[in-house]
Amino acid sequence: MNFLAIETSCDETSVAIFTDELQVLSNVVASQIELHARFGGVVPEVAARAHLQRLLPTMDEALRQANLKLADIGAVVVMNSPGLVGALLVGVSAAKMLALTLDVPLLSANHIEAHIFAARMAAGRDIFPCVGLVVSGGHTSLFHCKTPLEFDLLGGTIDDAAGEAFDKVAAILGLGFPGGPAVEREAALGNPKAHALPRSFLKEDRLQFSFSGLKTAVLYALHGPSTTRGPLPGPGAVRANLAASFQRAVIDVLVEKSRQALRKTCEKRLAVGGGVSANQALRADLEAMAQREGAELFIPPMALCTDNAAMAAVAVEKWRRGIVAPLDLDAMPNYQGKN
Ligand code: KG4
Ligand code: ZN
Repeated sequence: MNFLAIETSCDETSVAIFTDELQVLSNVVASQIELHARFGGVVPEVAARAHLQRLLPTMDEALRQANLKLADIGAVVVMNSPGLVGALLVGVSAAKMLALTLDVPLLSANHIEAHIFAARMAAGRDIFPCVGLVVSGGHTSLFHCKTPLEFDLLGGTIDDAAGEAFDKVAAILGLGFPGGPAVEREAALGNPKAHALPRSFLKEDRLQFSFSGLKTAVLYALHGPSTTRGPLPGPGAVRANLAASFQRAVIDVLVEKSRQALRKTCEKRLAVGGGVSANQALRADLEAMAQREGAELFIPPMALCTDNAAMAAVAVEKWRRGIVAPLDLDAMPNYQGKN
């Protein structure tokens, strides 16, 4: 049985085809980075319009790579939550139309649960129950993932998400968009101990994150506590040291809170997903922590960390349980905990 999945929650238009055995036949991602770069961030209306233009060609390409026709598709999956509402609506409308015309079931997938399921797919075996850390542009959350579809929220960020902080610090340092990979490259040139930046709640016994103060601390370290920003720093030690110190502060917090979550839940598996988990320094430190804790770490390869439609294969679990979506399925911009 072949599933065709659609992802349009933010700035990647993606279509994947996978089987009920979780074999990925194609996973095509049309990035919109070049459209948003000049604005320094994702512009929701621009994203929605670009999804409209790109969705059908992306679907054609996914079918071509899988060597299949639409008639070979047995179910349509759409990631309908969370995300930018206009962007989500494009995928949801297309998925409904497709399911109706092909007369096949429609299934919904939650983008957050899907990010964790990407780790399950890469592992090629069951990883549940586990602690799940989702670190993306919109979310920084820890979950107790009892099954692929039962997540208890352990805690999350009270302000910025980790990826958002990477993007904003990249803008402060003049490193462009998207910020994560740019900050990571710059950090490799700097000294992570050069600046003592804040690590919110690090030693406190609560599973919460806050990155907004850290971002402001980078701004003050660069320009002093002034409301007028000076010029953007050029290449050199100042920029590299700030990038390295910032990245280290984010990683220290993500690793320590994941460790606390493992202890709290008594789980011995940690699954990580979302764009920030593409960060090599974070991956290395999570690996070292997991080893110290005697836990197994599951992080998907890069292509499955950032937004893609293959991770919507979490919906296969729904299909196995007979859970299908109605044709009046809504796009839900906020994470509901359940989908
Ligand atoms: O999961 P994702 O592709 O989209 C959302 O669901 O948000 O995550 C995008 C976020 C962006 O904020 C981006 O800057 C960040 O992931 N990111 C990284 C890296 N690659 C992407 N952050 C740190 N290091 C990276 N190498
Ligand atoms: Zn995402």
